[in-house]
Amino acid sequence: MASVASEIDALLEQAARLAAEHLEASADRSRPVVDWRDPADLERELALELPDRGRPLEEVIADARRFLARSVRTGHPFFFNQLFNRIEPAAILGEWLAAVANTSMYTYEAAPVFTLIEEKLSERLCALVGFEHGEGVLGPGGSTSNLMAMLAARTRTWPRSRIAGLPAGERPAVLASAEAHYSIPRAASILGLGLEAVIPVPCDDRGAMRPEELARALASAAAAGRKPFFVCATAGTTMAGAYDPVAAIAPLCREHGAWLHVDAAYGGSALFSPRHRHLLAGIDQADSVAWNPHKAMAVPLHCSALLMRRRGDLEETFATSADYLFHDTEEAGRDRGDMTLQCGRRVDALKLWLAWQAIGDDGFRARVDHAFALVAAARERVSARPDFELVREPMGCNLLFRWLPAADAPPEAVDALNVALRERLKRSGRIMLNYSRLDGRVALRLVLTHPELRPADLDEVLDAVAEAGRAAELAQA
Ligand SMILES: Cc1ncc(COP(=O)(O)O)c(C=O)c1O
Repeated sequence: MASVASEIDALLEQAARLAAEHLEASADRSRPVVDWRDPADLERELALELPDRGRPLEEVIADARRFLARSVRTGHPFFFNQLFNRIEPAAILGEWLAAVANTSMYTYEAAPVFTLIEEKLSERLCALVGFEHGEGVLGPGGSTSNLMAMLAARTRTWPRSRIAGLPAGERPAVLASAEAHYSIPRAASILGLGLEAVIPVPCDDRGAMRPEELARALASAAAAGRKPFFVCATAGTTMAGAYDPVAAIAPLCREHGAWLHVDAAYGGSALFSPRHRHLLAGIDQADSVAWNPHKAMAVPLHCSALLMRRRGDLEETFATSADYLFHDTEEAGRDRGDMTLQCGRRVDALKLWLAWQAIGDDGFRARVDHAFALVAAARERVSARPDFELVREPMGCNLLFRWLPAADAPPEAVDALNVALRERLKRSGRIMLNYSRLDGRVALRLVLTHPELRPADLDEVLDAVAEAGRAAELAQA
């Protein structure tokens, strides 16, 4: 019988080859982003039935190769579909070692090394934000971090709400920009406040919250007997990449006794850049910050940090001190399980720590500066071409635009063509990019954070978008 070590060696040798093949294919501009298959065809091709008896490793590896071959190459420079893209190879090692160690982050005794690593990361992220006496914890995503922040704000505003629920007659209000992420209203709904508790604050023409509108919304909520207890400013909105003016928002929150949360899930990494960190000016006055290293810091999903300005807020919100898990040991003060809503928690710290070792502050800064330079280059190209329309002046790392047909067409027809061209590009596998409706109109979005994307690539991308637009128009004629 093969030893465990030789079995693992054989498996990992194959796994390393698979990973190398996938990452190499992802880096190759001449390869498609995806070999697209419709669901029924893919289902037939993959034959996913589960076996009665275990199968030999070679067969399973062959399956894994087929799976990767049909998966989206999210590290491809022309993958613009989501806010994440190329990951750092060292981070893959962190992900894999976390699985090998197979432990949970709730107690120091179960995860001594990873506990210390997460403490170090939290300290460093807090320092970047400007939280001198802060604390942080990693979790599965910005949505969870936003939910946890709202729960912390509820606990701070109504301390007995943890025990007795919200006092009768309270009418809590949550304020976020009209372009904030959907996890904010969803958090209000999960917390039992209801979607109607959320007041959308209008944005300016770049997609940033208007502070004077926030002031008005806070005052009218208070006048109507509501309690505005949570304001979410977004640093890097999902579509436009816009930055809400935190420095102008913070004093309004203080005036109304509202908790200020900054959702920097996407845009937090601008803090590495002396040139661009002004976009987050005032973030040190926030009560909490969500920041997703899995978006623009080259680590694989999931990895999201929730950072708090005051040490102790997390335990105040979440601690239940289950005595079968947390014991009165000498090191108990280092346990992190009562700082979160999870019990078992993955080791997300290691991949971030390893990626940071490989990239360094300088590397993160260079990535941020590169992304902003790309946005400027893309903006210039889109504005110069008669077949494109800039939808928003960019503030962050996304560009919103739409393709225009040569002949005048009503807005609905232009919108339909943009949706159709995007679908064509996806199915051809050449480019994946996303869209949504803003102010009632379709806008295509380029996410320009890929460290290997070059200005010259932008011409190829825009040409491909225009070509797909013309093909969509012909198909409709
Ligand atoms: C601004 C913003 N906040 C929060 C989230 C949610 O993050 P996650 O997907 O990690 O839950 C996103 C996701 O795109 C986002 O863009």
